[in-house]
Amino acid sequence: MSRQYKIEAARAALAHVRDGMRLGIGTGSTAEEFVRLLAEKVREGMAISGVSTSERTSALCAELGIELTTLEALPELDLVIDGADEIGPGLSLVKGGGGALLREKIVAGASQRMIVIADESKLVNMLGAFPLPVEVNRFGAETTRMQIVRAGQQLGLDGPVSWRQAGNERFITDEGHFILDASFGRIPDAKALSTALLEIPGVVQHGLFLEMADLAIVSGPGGLREVGV
Ligand code: A5P
Repeated sequence: MSRQYKIEAARAALAHVRDGMRLGIGTGSTAEEFVRLLAEKVREGMAISGVSTSERTSALCAELGIELTTLEALPELDLVIDGADEIGPGLSLVKGGGGALLREKIVAGASQRMIVIADESKLVNMLGAFPLPVEVNRFGAETTRMQIVRAGQQLGLDGPVSWRQAGNERFITDEGHFILDASFGRIPDAKALSTALLEIPGVVQHGLFLEMADLAIVSGPGGLREVGV
């Protein structure tokens, strides 16, 4: 059922893609529905210059015949279409459930517009129920973890900050870093948390996407809905 909602949101987002666009392509199960629909358009002759946000998305694009370029070759994009783990007020987002937050944020930052696609269960009144992914350098990773815990506490945020695992090993991102999932619960001041996290030397990036998304397309039992900033 919820897959159908993802497909509906992805299909509506595809209507924003024009021939010749420089397009960022997101990561996750919803973004993958978008990739499948985009592949049909490409087979029908639509030309896009696509930049992928993860190895996982790149592999799917290759399988479906969507040729990709890189941000090196194409440093500025027209539009990125990506999923989210939470969509809060003002289209603030939590992303990184799939571990691709760093490339996702770089691609979003390179894009003139960002459209988020999701099933409507992702809409929240306040971010934080979904553990916040924080990508950290491997060097000094435990020091960084403790500093993240402390930074949270200074903002009144408590809860476990734990290593993301892949089987018995720590999960490694496409850029070779670890991920910590910070279960802070409700995050009343996402901007303050973002600033505090980025001040920690070992933090590479975090999954709060603030003032980046321009439009969210969500789908649920009541149909499709567009949510603006
Ligand atoms: C990937 O790192 C994430 O940011 C995804 O965009 C997010 O986890 C949404 O994934 P789903 O569409 O699978 O829920």
